[in-house]
Amino acid sequence: MSVPDEDVTLRGISLIRAFTDGAKSRNVIDDVSIDLHRGQVALLMGPSGSGKSTLLAIMSGLLKPDAGQVMARENGRWLDIWKMSPREREQFRLRNCGFIFQGYNLFPALTARQQLEIILRWGDGVPGKEARKRADEMLGLLGLAGKEHKKPAQLSGGEKQRVAIGRALIKRPRFCFADEPTSALDWSSGQVVIDLLQKASHEYDSTIIVVSHDHRLLEHVDVSYQLEDGRMMENAIPCPTDTWRGHQ
Ligand SMILES: Nc1ncnc2c1ncn2[C@@H]1O[C@H](COP(=O)(O)OP(=O)(O)OP(=O)(O)O)[C@@H](O)[C@H]1O
Ligand SMILES: [Mg+2]
Repeated sequence: MSVPDEDVTLRGISLIRAFTDGAKSRNVIDDVSIDLHRGQVALLMGPSGSGKSTLLAIMSGLLKPDAGQVMARENGRWLDIWKMSPREREQFRLRNCGFIFQGYNLFPALTARQQLEIILRWGDGVPGKEARKRADEMLGLLGLAGKEHKKPAQLSGGEKQRVAIGRALIKRPRFCFADEPTSALDWSSGQVVIDLLQKASHEYDSTIIVVSHDHRLLEHVDVSYQLEDGRMMENAIPCPTDTWRGHQ
């Protein structure tokens, strides 16, 4: 299954990142290149310490590589995100990127609905009524109808994780970076999340990259990558997908 090149929206090219451990410097990301496609969910797997979170941070403009480039396509133009000024990069992230971190990073004082609403109101200037409608729709999709008024302390770990996922997807980001988004969830809630990421990638044409240890996710994504000791093990493996795409 070869995907036409014009569907590539995010490219990592010959990326290197070293960390110093005592006196020694070690390449935690060691000459990694990766192409990500619009409308696809890519799974990044690998043992603990293999560099998955580091690669995600580099690709999303949060951690500068020592060498190599990250190119992102925005409105048909290729931008080198590590050549932008910090301010430009932050603006780029605000316009285009959604993040799901392992810790949920929810605001303690806000209700589930407000966590999503503020992203639309502050970020995109969406009027209050519409922001509320879209927040409630997203919470419904995530199986959180009825929990709109709950604050993080009143939600379970899995529910908080789903609010965090809703917050990342609500603005229909062009790129979405998810680090272990299903780790706090049981298998069936995890499947709901992956299915939602799939749906988001197809409906919003988003490029989604998910880091996970869970091999069961393989059949729910479009393509997978394996990192070991900072190196990409083999070429991208298209996954046997039973999702939307397959049934269309
Ligand atoms: N800021 C840092 N300073 C020094 N070493 C670091 C730093 N961040 C990460 N490392 C090292 O880089 C390696 C890769 O870390 P990374 O967090 O990317 O791994 P990972 O694949 O995400 O692991 P896990 O599955 O446990 O989350 C590890 O050996 C880690 O100790
Ligand atoms: Mg990690």
